[in-house]
Parts: sequence; structure tokens; C-alpha cells
Amino acid sequence: MNAGFIGIGRYTPDKIVTNADLEKVMDTSDEWIRTRTGIEERRIADDSIDTSDMAFFAAEKALEDAGISAEQLDMILVATVTPDQPFPSVACMLQERLGAKKAAAMDISAACAGFMYGVVTAKQFIETGAFTNVLVVGVEKLSKVTDWNDRNTAVLFGDGAGAAVIGPVSEGKGILSFELGADGSGGKHLYQDEFIIMNGREVFKFAVRQMGESSLNVLEKAGLSKEDVDFLIPHQANIRIMEASRERLELPVEKMSKTVHKYGNTSAASIPISLVEEVEAGKIKDDDLIVMVGFGGGLTWGAIAVRWGR
Ligand SMILES: CC(C)(COP(=O)(O)OP(=O)(O)OC[C@H]1O[C@@H](n2cnc3c(N)ncnc32)[C@H](O)[C@@H]1OP(=O)(O)O)[C@@H](O)C(=O)NCCC(=O)NCCS
Repeated sequence: MNAGFIGIGRYTPDKIVTNADLEKVMDTSDEWIRTRTGIEERRIADDSIDTSDMAFFAAEKALEDAGISAEQLDMILVATVTPDQPFPSVACMLQERLGAKKAAAMDISAACAGFMYGVVTAKQFIETGAFTNVLVVGVEKLSKVTDWNDRNTAVLFGDGAGAAVIGPVSEGKGILSFELGADGSGGKHLYQDEFIIMNGREVFKFAVRQMGESSLNVLEKAGLSKEDVDFLIPHQANIRIMEASRERLELPVEKMSKTVHKYGNTSAASIPISLVEEVEAGKIKDDDLIVMVGFGGGLTWGAIAVRWGR
């Protein structure tokens, strides 16, 4: 039994905050943000929309896309570091709101690599035959843990949600290989106290190294090589980190997903949001080989190689 993506959905808040808007409230410039990060604008959820709301909106779309009802879900995994509250989990809130009566539910804390951790966890339950349909959501309301007086971090992040139903797919398709990893010794470089605290340079170095290595590792594990890759979906943190991963795989520009300019870094939501946008744009087709790769606070990382299609 192979596990793969059988439905996807996303939600991004309507409110757009541009670099020009940030110039008005802090000592920064559109030019600095664009050249250092590739970000042009980000979405910020208003006070009435919390993490569980965004998760719900994305999840509804993923269920519709999968053509299944919430009652058919066996488990809900929500990757987030910005839950509505410490407990109950966002996953339990979602279980109730969706009416997923038979689903187990828990949150996963792996920061920006969280969606990768969720998908790989779902794969295990499906491939052992224990579960059939697992909903995985990557969602963040980073605006509530952003220090709007700290230009080092405030310009980087945004809010949003992406969701996928992981379930059985036909032979040869689905998640072919994965890599998950962590290095707690690097936790000091990116963490939340009251707000996000980051040593940008250290995170940058780690990210460039890890994104490239993990991408190559999942290809090797699947018995494939760089030439086989049709599309790369890197975590959307910074265009320079993303470009380094693309170069490591020797892919042309048009074979890498880029949504960071529109949404900034949405942490666990960035990979599934990008996935939905690329599929909707027709850039990902049946039988394409996709590499998804993320890294984040923890430090954590995760990657998968996927043969697209059901
Ligand atoms: C944060 C990051 C964009 C900074 O880029 P950088 O090229 O390393 O920038 P540098 O550290 O060389 O330069 C920083 C300088 O710009 C200034 N600066 C920082 N933020 C700024 C901003 N928003 N606007 C203007 N200047 C800013 C700093 O104060 C510093 O000035 P100084 O040299 O006078 O002290 C980059 O390090 C990065 O993307 N790191 C990874 C972060 C990440 O991905 N985090 C999420 C992980 S999931």
C-alpha cells in the first residue's frame, strides 16, 4: 500500500501587508527586504481569525478535493507552533468543527518542518494498513508571536494554512521516500520566548546546507537522481536559501515553487500553500516527481520525494 496526496487545500488571509506598509512602522526598506529575502508582501490574519479557523478553511478544501467526508478521516495531524492555546490541540478543535467523529487528533511541533513531519507520520499509519485517510494541516498565525518592533524578524513572517488528505494511492505513485531529522543543539538560533528570536546568519547557514542534503538524500533513498526531478517545493523562508537548494539539484528556475514574495515565511504552512498553488497553476502534473523539503526551529528538517497522482 502506497500513501500519497489524495486531496489538497489552502487558506491565506485577505489582508495584505506590503514592504511599503512596514517601511512606515519600522526602520526598514522595501529594497532591503526584497534583496535579502525575496519577500514583497505577506498576509496577516485579523483578530477574529485564529490558527484553528485557518486550519478549518484549508481542511474543508482538502476534503472536498479528496472527495471524502470528515467522517472518513482516521486521524488529524496539525503542524503548528502557534496554536490557539497550549491545549486542547488545534487538531482536536478541528476534529470537532469538521465533525470527524472517528478521527484521532494531535498537534505536531516541528516548526517550519512540521508539515513534512505530519505527512511522513501519516504515511506510516497508512502503509501499515492501520488507517486509510489522514488529514495533515500546516498552519501558522505567526503574527501573534511576531515582535513588530524587531525589524530582524518582523519583515519575514506571515499567516496562512495548507492541508492535505494523505491516503492510499495506486502502485508507483505517492510518497516514495522521506528524511526527517533534528538537531536540538541549534535550538538557540531560532526560538520563541514571548516573541520569535532568531540568529539569522546561523539559521541561514544551516538551512542552505540541510535543504540541499535532504533533497539529495530522499532522491537516493528512492533510487532516483537529480535528473529525475520535475519540481522542487522548498520551504519558503528566503529566496536565497531556496535558490541554493535549486542549484544543488541543478534545476532550472521554472522547476522551483516560489510563493515567498506573496506570503513571506508562513512556517509549517509554506510547503502545502505552495503545493496547492502549483497544482492549480498546472505546473504539477500526474506522474511528475516532486521533492518537498523544509527546515525550521528545533532545529528540524524533513523532505519527501513524491510521484504525483492518485
Ligand atoms: C535574516 C536574514 C534575511 C538577514 O540577511 P543577511 O544577509 O544575513 O543580513 P546581514 O546579517 O548580513 O545584515 C544584517 C544587517 O541588516 C540589518 N537589518 C536586519 N533586518 C533589517 C531590515 N528588516 N531592514 C533593514 N535592515 C535590516 C541588521 O541590523 C544588520 O545591520 P548591521 O550590519 O548594521 O548590524 C538572513 O540571515 C536569513 O534569511 N536567515 C534565515 C532566516 C530564516 O530563514 N528564518 C526562518 C527559519 S524557518
